[in-house]
Amino acid sequence: MTAQLVASRDDLEPGEALRLELDSADGSLVEVALVRAEDGEYHAINDICTHGQVSLSEGEVEGNTVECWLHGSVFDLVSGQPLSLPATRPVAVYPLTYDGDKILVDVDSPAAPAD
Ligand code: FES
Repeated sequence: MTAQLVASRDDLEPGEALRLELDSADGSLVEVALVRAEDGEYHAINDICTHGQVSLSEGEVEGNTVECWLHGSVFDLVSGQPLSLPATRPVAVYPLTYDGDKILVDVDSPAAPAD
């Protein structure tokens, strides 16, 4: 599957995040956190914290990071890497492109696959 339309640029304010379920090429659903960083740029990461099974889109966005609401691990939105414990494994980061006002995400080609 190729990049799929997920939102428009003005759907989120800086600092907001949205949970999406996107179809992958193998037919499975991929849970994605679409996050608008405080600089206004969008990022798409796997929505499930690698420490527990909670949604990162419900966390706090700060700068280019999102903080898991349950135990406080902070994930880099660009690399997917955890910047603080207790999480030690990265979340997948998905390629995100713009087509005019539209936002497209490709969940089949993660730029930074999770372990
Ligand atoms: S569940 Fe996210 S840091 Fe523990």
